[in-house]
Amino acid sequence: MITKIFLITVFSIGTIAFTGKGAAFAVSAEENYKFYCTQCHGSDGKGEGANSKPKVVGIDLPEMSVTPRNHTNPEDMNKLTDTDIESAISGGGAAVSKSTIMPPWGKTLTEAEIKDLTAYLRKLCKCKGK
Ligand code: HEC
Repeated sequence: MITKIFLITVFSIGTIAFTGKGAAFAVSAEENYKFYCTQCHGSDGKGEGANSKPKVVGIDLPEMSVTPRNHTNPEDMNKLTDTDIESAISGGGAAVSKSTIMPPWGKTLTEAEIKDLTAYLRKLCKCKGK
């Protein structure tokens, strides 16, 4: 499992380094999710990434007492509008009065990438939001 995550990360770094932000070749939402989000939200989006279990990977990160959102839970995800999700991704937890462990991505990802990620999360939860 760890090896798999490592390989995915190495592959993603290669892809990002090659394309870069705003380059001619677009990186898919799934690739962005794997690169930026799975270490906390998990490779399947269930909120069980390596960072959500700091004790397991040997890092003591007490702030991680707030667990990453399970993006596959329709009940939780339905409470969020697309705008809520976009604000959370762009401005991080602080922008939506949630845990600041959720980092802001507005300077890393383009608006289009954030919209694509939002659509990707809607696929994971199989829900439309309110
Ligand atoms: C360092 C760990 C970490 C990373 C990396 C991370 N998140 Fe999060 N995320 C969190 C945590 C923790 C929460 C829960 C915040 C809360 O409920 O207070 C969260 C919550 C969220 C939420 C829900 C916000 C809400 O209003 O309920 C969305 C949407 C989200 N993350 C999307 C993403 C996306 C997309 C990425 C990748 C671009 C990402 N996250 C990367 C830790 C992370």
